[in-house]
Amino acid sequence: MNDYDYENRIVSPTEIMGENSDDNPLRPQRLDDYIGQDKAKQNLAVFIEAARQRGETLDHVLLYGPPGLGKTTLSKIIANELGVNFRITSGPAIEKPGDLAAILTNLNDGDVLFIDEIHRINRAVEEILYPAMEDFAIDVITGKGQMAVSYHVPLPHFTLVGATTRAGQLTAPLRDRFGVTLRLELYTPEELAMIVNRSASILGIPIEPDGALEIASRSRGTPRIANRMLKRVRDFAQVMSDGVITLSTARTALERLEIDELGLDSNDRRMLTAIVKFYKGGPVGLETLAAAIGEEAVTIEDVIEPYLMQIGFLNRTPRGRCITRAGCLHIGLDMPDIQQTQLKFD
Ligand code: ADE
Repeated sequence: MNDYDYENRIVSPTEIMGENSDDNPLRPQRLDDYIGQDKAKQNLAVFIEAARQRGETLDHVLLYGPPGLGKTTLSKIIANELGVNFRITSGPAIEKPGDLAAILTNLNDGDVLFIDEIHRINRAVEEILYPAMEDFAIDVITGKGQMAVSYHVPLPHFTLVGATTRAGQLTAPLRDRFGVTLRLELYTPEELAMIVNRSASILGIPIEPDGALEIASRSRGTPRIANRMLKRVRDFAQVMSDGVITLSTARTALERLEIDELGLDSNDRRMLTAIVKFYKGGPVGLETLAAAIGEEAVTIEDVIEPYLMQIGFLNRTPRGRCITRAGCLHIGLDMPDIQQTQLKFD
C-alpha cells in the first residue's frame, strides 16, 4: 500500500469524520437553502408537496451519484420538509435480517429511513426489504425446523431513502421498488462558489468573490471538498496575511497544499504519469495500474478516476484506462505515439 492516506487527502470526496455529523453547521436544513442540483430539487419539491397535500407518506426515493455531492444532506432535508423523524443507517451496518427488522419495527408513521451505500446490503437483508417497501410488512420467523413459527408483522408507513454511488450495482428488484429516482450531478464552479460563500458566512470567514471562485474551481465539482478546502485556506489566510481570503491568498494556499488549478493533487498526477511512462498512454487494466501505483483498485475507481474522466483527462475503454491528449498536456508530457496509432484503429 501507498503510505499516502487517500481517504484523508484534501481532494478526496469521501467523508472525513464529523463532516456528515448532525451538528455540521454547513449542512443546509431546507430545500431553499440547498444550492445546485436544480432538476432533482425541483422535482423533489413537487413530490414532497403532493404527498403532504394528500396526507400520504412520500414514495421511496433512490439518490445516486458520486460521493460528496450531498445525498445524506438531501435526505435529511426531505425529512425536515415533511416534518418527520430521520433515521440513518448504512448497507454494511445492517448485518442480519434481524438488524433491519429491529430498525423497521421502531419507526413511526411517515418517518424517513435513510440507508447509505444501499448497494452494499446483503442478500438476506435485501429479501426483508422487499415486502417492507412494498407492503409495509415483514415476515419474521422464530425457532428452527419443526419449531419454526412465522409471524406477519405490519410496519408503519415509512419512506425509504436509499443512497448509492453505483446505481448499476443495485439488483433490479430493489431498484424497481423506488418510486422516485434522482441522479445528483457534479456541481459547476459557480454553484460551488455560492456554497463556499454561504459556508464562509456561516463560519465567519471573510472572503472575496474571486477567492471563493478560486476554491470552487479546484474542488472537483464536490461541495464536501470545497468546504474542506475553505477551512484549510482560511488557516493560511489567518497565519500568513490578514485573514481575508482573496484570490491571491487562495492561490498561495492551494499551491502550498499541492492542489493544482483544476483540483488535481500529486496522486492524480502520479497516476496519469504512470499511464504515460509505464504503459505508453494505455490502455492499461485497472488492476495492473493499481499495482503499479500501489493503490487499491476500488480507490482508483471511486475516488481518483471519476473526476479525471469528467474533465476529459482519462478514458475508460473495454481494454483498460487511456490518458487523453488533454491529460498529457496538463502533466506536461507528450502523448505517446503508440496510443495515437491505437486510437486510429480503435
Ligand atoms: N453545503 C454542502 N452542500 C451544500 C449545498 N448543496 N447547498 C448549500 N450548502 C451546502
